Amino acid sequence: MTHIDIFDTTLRDGEQVPGCKLDSDQKFRLAKRLEELGVNIIEAGFPISSPGDFAAVQEIGRIIKHATVCGLSRAVKEDIKVAAEALSTARRPRIHTGLGTSDSHIVDKLRTTREKVIERAIGAVSYAKSFVEDVEFYAEDAGRTDNEFLAKVIQAVVNAGATVLNIPDTTGYCLPEEMGAKIRFLKEHVKGIDKCTISVHCHNDLGLATANSIAGIQNGATQIECTMNGIGERAGNCSLEEVVMIIKHRLNQEFYTDVNSRLLNPISREVSAEMGMAVQANKAIVGENAFAHSSGIHQDGVIKARDTYEIIDPQEVGVDKSMIVLTARSGRAALAYRFKELGINLTKRELDAAYKIFLEIADSKKAVEDEDLNVIWKNIEVAVA
Ligand code: KIV
Ligand code: ZN
Repeated sequence: MTHIDIFDTTLRDGEQVPGCKLDSDQKFRLAKRLEELGVNIIEAGFPISSPGDFAAVQEIGRIIKHATVCGLSRAVKEDIKVAAEALSTARRPRIHTGLGTSDSHIVDKLRTTREKVIERAIGAVSYAKSFVEDVEFYAEDAGRTDNEFLAKVIQAVVNAGATVLNIPDTTGYCLPEEMGAKIRFLKEHVKGIDKCTISVHCHNDLGLATANSIAGIQNGATQIECTMNGIGERAGNCSLEEVVMIIKHRLNQEFYTDVNSRLLNPISREVSAEMGMAVQANKAIVGENAFAHSSGIHQDGVIKARDTYEIIDPQEVGVDKSMIVLTARSGRAALAYRFKELGINLTKRELDAAYKIFLEIADSKKAVEDEDLNVIWKNIEVAVA
């Protein structure tokens, strides 16, 4: 069984999102919760970006006991030095440094050459190693970098002492087969790569961040970079809750993580509240509707046996129970079930009468609530008396 390190970047890539900025206290609260959740690495921030982020990384380093605390930097000496200073409080510090490796980044953003990128990568890793043992290198836009050149860059940073090799699909461009093949290519062509951790950091521009991360581990990566609720630049990062549950439910013969899945929903809600960023209702694992059933056919199945329409027990991810939502598409079984939850066991005659009134109400609103059921109950008491 292979252990997969969960590298959480909610407080860095997630917090970069417009409107998601956290103050220091919010960052500390969430960092503690992420450690309780069982993530292995917390990317606490980008220390050179602001004095506030520097202080937050420093304090998170002080309070986190077991997880590695990581700070981001560009492949720039001053960034690296400031990241090292901020991380000096951490029991397990990691500097995360790197630069763009795709032609688009090299030519249009960095305005440099491939040779100079390799030189800068070596310089950044060597300099970071003068402060800490654990140095992660990111090849930004690796998803669009040709594999031969990427292997050259990665070989150079392995030789320079990088401990973790981050292969980001920064623009969410890859297909899962391509991401998997990229990791396999690196494993086959970079000498000494087996001594390092290979990491995948996938963005969700085409909705493939989770699939690409899974393809990454199936081809040799042993670290996934992800965020709670999948928040992150543009369409977001790979969702922590999704990869954790995929590993737990579908890949548990091969892989495992240290995440306590029962904390996924509580912490998802805390992240959402602290950031003021709603979770979409149909979001896998943590969305409001992830365990809600509203059509009569599904409700009938779930009431008879939960696993007819649910592959995960909601309690396993910290949700009390599945929800039977009453709408105009619901059937008699669901109505009887909800009455039973209110302590009312309807007879067949009462149920027929209740269902008639129910459909009238249901057609006029999105969902029928307990107060509506009380009204229905009073009406059928009269009707069947
Ligand atoms: O998406 C990306 O490439 C990043 C790097 C800074 C790791 O966030
Ligand atoms: Zn990113």
